[in-house]
Amino acid sequence: MPLQGKRALVTGSSRGIGRGIALKLAERGVNIAVHYHTQTEAAKETLAQVQARGAKGCLIQADVTRTEDIQRMFDQVQRELGGLDIFVSNARPELAAFYRPPLDLGVEHWRAALDSQAQAFLLGSQASAKLMPDGGRIIAISYSPSGRTGSWQPWIAMGAAKAALDALARYFAVALGPRGITVNVISPGATDDSVVSRLPSEVFQAIRAWHESGWTPMRRVGTPADIGNAVILLCMDEASFISGQTIHVDGGASIMDSVFPLEIQRG
Ligand SMILES: NC(=O)c1ccc[n+]([C@@H]2O[C@H](COP(=O)([O-])OP(=O)(O)OC[C@H]3O[C@@H](n4cnc5c(N)ncnc54)[C@H](OP(=O)(O)O)[C@@H]3O)[C@@H](O)[C@H]2O)c1
Repeated sequence: MPLQGKRALVTGSSRGIGRGIALKLAERGVNIAVHYHTQTEAAKETLAQVQARGAKGCLIQADVTRTEDIQRMFDQVQRELGGLDIFVSNARPELAAFYRPPLDLGVEHWRAALDSQAQAFLLGSQASAKLMPDGGRIIAISYSPSGRTGSWQPWIAMGAAKAALDALARYFAVALGPRGITVNVISPGATDDSVVSRLPSEVFQAIRAWHESGWTPMRRVGTPADIGNAVILLCMDEASFISGQTIHVDGGASIMDSVFPLEIQRG
């Protein structure tokens, strides 16, 4: 679809990847509902940057783990933007809410992961479908490798939640296909200016060095703008027949074979 004048809700766009998505959409003239949880100043900064790109926008506060907040968020989208063409489900709680290894995982950590990803996407997609004209776009920001692997032990709850998110996207793609609404998943790799760069600096440097050593063929971590660019591609008219797919935006990291040392694999 031509993007100028379209309306998008990007959850978790106060910072990180969500902000990168909001700014790329704004560059194309999309009006943005900038959603946040607690960081009002960061959300205002995103909105200012949206407006600096010539787009309109509004701020919406909501806790996406709360069903009543999700309904209020979409009611506000309808009031402030007059409808919705693009829904990007991106928000994810801070690590402290869910990051525990399997034997220490409490129900509250489990709920924070599942409710913020699977439940928020389920309710958000249902609400979006009511606001969207035919031909709209729904995009889930996942981390799909964590839904099929088990090595990153404290990620268990979020890995399960991302697996559920990926599955939900496929079911909604089928349900909304007759209306020309596409539903896809974007799976970023390690991305700068996000939760990864807020880890202790030695951890972030180790992650960066790992990817630059060749475990990402493009030898760098991603940026929020890389993910925003992928969202733009899926929102274009030319992508109207792509639905139910997972697009890995990771410089090729997800196609690496981790069974053998990299030195052996290089020709
Ligand atoms: N970063 C990576 O390398 C990476 C890799 C793969 C996938 N991803 C996925 O990309 C998405 C964004 O990650 P990120 O690293 O950019 O995140 P981030 O910088 O930590 O930002 C998280 C966003 O979610 C919002 N949020 C937190 N808890 C919330 C809640 N309970 N209800 C509503 N909103 C809430 C935050 O709002 P406030 O600012 O108000 O707190 C913020 O806008 C996530 O789904 C993540 O799993 C990230």
